[in-house]
Amino acid sequence: QLSDLRGLKSGTLRLASATTAKYFIPHLLGPFCERYPGIDIQFTVANRQKVIERLEQGLDDFYVFSYVPEGLELETIEFMSNDLVAIAEQNHPLTKQKRVSLEQFCQQDFLIRESGSGTRYATESFFSKQSVSPKVKMTIASNEAIIHSVLSRLGVSILSAHTLAFGEMYGVKVLNVEGLPIKSKWSFSWTKAHHLSPIANVFLNYVETEGREMMKQAIKL
Ligand code: PGA
Repeated sequence: QLSDLRGLKSGTLRLASATTAKYFIPHLLGPFCERYPGIDIQFTVANRQKVIERLEQGLDDFYVFSYVPEGLELETIEFMSNDLVAIAEQNHPLTKQKRVSLEQFCQQDFLIRESGSGTRYATESFFSKQSVSPKVKMTIASNEAIIHSVLSRLGVSILSAHTLAFGEMYGVKVLNVEGLPIKSKWSFSWTKAHHLSPIANVFLNYVETEGREMMKQAIKL
């Protein structure tokens, strides 16, 4: 029982998450920290590759991925869905179409995340499975900078729906492109060899018993 453990709660919980998870992790941490005010949180946000490197160095208690890396001895719990959607500026001609073919989408200037990004990994796997290539115009190492570049009509992109501030952001539209969204799932992972601290166990329990449901309420995706 969480309440039984309340007395022993002080120390640090270390989380490392891929950048796209930064939109929901704080909403998970809010009620947790309120319940356990003695727990400090160290929350590192970096792209997927950097999170993998932290995992290899054993720096954190939990690592948040949408594509769990292969070939590592990990324990993993799936947490919630992550849909990657095609986006364009609201007056882009493709927003007028009910359906957009992949071929048409690939004719647009495309804005892509940097290599090492999970978003890029998902996007490239999608295009290669469909045997098409996007017309890459810019590589941009930030979800927010991609959104602003979409708004200034530099191109279209594919990003996690979480980046759209829990819904379509003003000025950005989701396109109904053939084959999209790309479906993936957020998960919390930790190394099998890494003995979870009592605090990490409390957090894991919280995520499993309450966290999922809480996120469903907080984020309507
Ligand atoms: P990233 O995060 O693109 O910032 O690496 C998303 C993910 O890992 O899916």
